[in-house]
Amino acid sequence: MNIELIKQKSGIIGESDEINHVLDMVSQVADVDISVLINGESGTGKELISKAIHLGSKRASKELVIVNCGAIPEGIIESELFGHKKGAYTDASETRKGYFETADKGTIFLDEIGDMPLETQVKVLRVLEAGEYMRVGDSSAKRTDTRVIAATNKDLARLVKEGKFRQDLYYRLKTVTINLPPLRQRKSDIRLLVDRFALQFSRTNNIKYKGFTPEAIKVMQKCEWPGNVRELRNFVESVLILQKGERITGEIIERQLENENIVDFSDNPALPVLVNRDPDQAERELILRQLLFLRQDIEDMKLLIKQSGFSNLDSSRNINADFENRIQDNEINSPDNDNLIKGEAIGAFNTRDLEKEMIIRTLEHYNNNRRAAAKSLDMSERTLYRKINDYGIEKKINKDN
Ligand SMILES: Nc1ncnc2c1ncn2[C@@H]1O[C@H](COP(=O)(O)OP(=O)(O)O)[C@@H](O)[C@H]1O
Ligand SMILES: [Mg+2]
Repeated sequence: MNIELIKQKSGIIGESDEINHVLDMVSQVADVDISVLINGESGTGKELISKAIHLGSKRASKELVIVNCGAIPEGIIESELFGHKKGAYTDASETRKGYFETADKGTIFLDEIGDMPLETQVKVLRVLEAGEYMRVGDSSAKRTDTRVIAATNKDLARLVKEGKFRQDLYYRLKTVTINLPPLRQRKSDIRLLVDRFALQFSRTNNIKYKGFTPEAIKVMQKCEWPGNVRELRNFVESVLILQKGERITGEIIERQLENENIVDFSDNPALPVLVNRDPDQAERELILRQLLFLRQDIEDMKLLIKQSGFSNLDSSRNINADFENRIQDNEINSPDNDNLIKGEAIGAFNTRDLEKEMIIRTLEHYNNNRRAAAKSLDMSERTLYRKINDYGIEKKINKDN
C-alpha cells in the first residue's frame, strides 16, 4: 500500500520527510506477518501507527485489540491477556477469554510494553515464538495466531540493562523498530495538523471557524510541544472554544499558550520557551482533573444517599463495593469499554470545560472570594480574572461579596 493510501485509511496527517519515512516503513512491514516495535514519546501517534499497520495488513478485516499494559494492575494483567479458567481465583466464577484469544487472526497492540511485569513478558515471548499461551488456572496450552505490535516511550535497552525488561523479548521485538520522531522534529507538519484538527472539531461541535493566520501557525511552530500531537490537538480545540467565530491570530495564540502554561512570553516575546513541562504533563493534568471530579461525584453521591434517608453505613459501603466489583469485572479497566483513564476518554473531555468547571466550583466554595480561589487554583489573580471573563463565568455566580 502506498503512503498516500495509508494516510487516507488511517487518518494520519503530515507531509514532512520524517512522517513520510515512518509511513514508508509502515508500508513495507504492514503486509509481512512480523512483530513490530514502535518507539516514540507520548502523544506522537504510536497508536495511530499501529492502526495503520493493522489496516495495511491481511488481518485488516479482523480485530485490532488495544491493550495499555501500563494501565492494567499487575495482578490481573495475565488474566486480561490470556484469559482465566473458572475457579482460577475466588472471584473467577466464569471462564473468561483473554485479549490474545479475541485478537486471534487479527492484531494485538501492546502499548507501554515497558511497564509489563517480567513474569508476563515470558508468556508474551512464548506467544511470539510458539503461538502458544495458557489461560490463568489452566494447564493445557491454547494456540493463537495474533500479530503483535508493541509500543513504548521508554528506552527498552536501558530497561534491559537495569533488569526490568527481558533481553530475549527485547531482541525478539526490536527486529523491526519504527521510531516515531517527536513533533518538535517535524514542525512542518504543524500547519496541516492544526488545520485538520480545527476543521474536525469545529464541524462536530458546530463552532464557526475562519482559520488561523500564517502568523498564528508560525507561533505554534516555534513551540516545543512536549506532549506532541496530542497536546497540539487539545490546544487547538481549546483555542476554538474560546475564539468562537474569529479568525485566529498570532496574538490569540500567544495569549492562550501563556494561559495554558505552555510557554512564557514574558522575557522575549519572539522566542517561546518551555516552562516546567515534561512530555506527559499535559496528559497527567487531564487525568488528575478527572480523578478530582470523580472524587467529587462520589462525595455527592454519598451525600445524596444520606439525604434520601438511606443513610446508614451500608449504603455507602455498597457504592464502594459496587465500584470495586466493576473494576474487577473490568467494566472500568477493559479496553473494550470507555475507561476513565484511557486516552479515548480523555479526548471526550476538554481541558477548557474542566478548567471552567473547576473555577466555578472553587469560586462557589470560597464564596466568590477571588483571592482565595486564585490561591487554591494556583494561578495569579490576574489570570483568574481573565479566565472568568473568557469563560463568561461572571453571570453564573451570585456576587455577594
Ligand atoms: N500524524 C497524525 N495525524 C493525525 N492525528 C494524529 C497524528 N499523530 C497523532 N495524532 C493524534 O494525536 C493523539 C495522540 O495519538 P496517539 O496515537 O494516541 O499517541 P501515542 O500512542 O503515541 O501516545 C490522537 O488523538 C491521534 O489521533
Ligand atoms: Mg498511546
